[in-house]
Amino acid sequence: MKVPPAAVYFPDEDRQWILSRIDDCLSSGALTLGANGKELERSFASLCGVRHAIAVNSGTSALEIILRAVGVEGREVVVPSNTFFATGAAVIHAGGRIRFADCERESFALHPESLRSVLSPRTVAVILVHVGGVITPRIAEIQAICAHAGVPLIEDAAHAHGSTLDGKPAGSFGLAAAFSFYPTKVITSGEGGAIVTDDERLNQEALIYRDQGKEGFTSNYHVRMGYNWRMSEPHAIMGLAQLRRLNEFVERRREIAAVYDDLLPRLDPDITPLALPERLYCNYYKYIAFLNGVNRAPLKKVMRERFDVGLSGEVYETPCHLQPVFAGDEPVKLSVAEDICANHICLPISARMTKDNAAYVVQCLAEALQLLKREPIEARG
Ligand SMILES: Cc1ncc(COP(=O)(O)O)c(C=O)c1O
Repeated sequence: MKVPPAAVYFPDEDRQWILSRIDDCLSSGALTLGANGKELERSFASLCGVRHAIAVNSGTSALEIILRAVGVEGREVVVPSNTFFATGAAVIHAGGRIRFADCERESFALHPESLRSVLSPRTVAVILVHVGGVITPRIAEIQAICAHAGVPLIEDAAHAHGSTLDGKPAGSFGLAAAFSFYPTKVITSGEGGAIVTDDERLNQEALIYRDQGKEGFTSNYHVRMGYNWRMSEPHAIMGLAQLRRLNEFVERRREIAAVYDDLLPRLDPDITPLALPERLYCNYYKYIAFLNGVNRAPLKKVMRERFDVGLSGEVYETPCHLQPVFAGDEPVKLSVAEDICANHICLPISARMTKDNAAYVVQCLAEALQLLKREPIEARG
């Protein structure tokens, strides 16, 4: 049996539907900012329980547009160190400065205490990342800290399509949220992303920024330093097809996660799943498990080479404050982010996996751990 780390899934009937809709676009010539993009925006806003969604060409652009609309130039934006490069990069591209904060072991997300400690009069916004689809149960504390400081909370919800906490959807907790539809995500439009917000001003600003900073679609009057951040109609069509499958995809991921939850604790104390609270309905973009004293690189190598099981990419392998591109003059120590980044794995998970695949992964993990205990040097080689 071969188990890939992740898999894109467009069922046959969806591929036919996509092709026929693209055919309509080709014959009408409506290839960008058209009816399909609008339909995707309406459906995605409704999923997130907010008034507006603005479709764009990536999750990175969604973040940058929000930050530009907030106006971060020359000011500090708090970013949890355990995130993808794009979260920090968007701050820089929008003219802001990054202030990294530490994370929490229980959720992999921004730690409220660490957030408090880095806030200052220079702070203009705070970004919270729902790592692996996990909305931190401490989000109310984070919202309260931001409200008290008078700075907006921005959700980087690139991982969190369909996740809810106490029934409240990812994307509805802050001033605005950025989603990604990159192919590894729970749903994809090829490339793409969306901004969601309840805020009328932010919606208007995002529409302007997305289309070269023009004051309106037919205008040639440029009022903001925008860019071409538009989503094309073929991408919107792929996104629509996937959005219709979101509930089904998330349910399948949750079935796979339930198999892991059941089998992993019986396996070996060396690997323990990240425990998620009942209040959280997680989309399981990632299935995270802690390594207790097990070396990750050799384990991944054995799983791949001997068992054909691809462990998926970590969230994350290296915290952002240790990425050379972000490292400042003063060394920064964020010990929880450093610890969790070094000591976890992500098990394969996708809407294409079967429960048998999941049981096989756990069985292979057990064998791989035994093997590494017997032959640590050889396995490492
Ligand atoms: C946390 C996070 N933020 C932002 C992004 C950027 O999204 P995109 O790749 O669509 O630009 C990603 C993508 O992987 C991500 O994981």
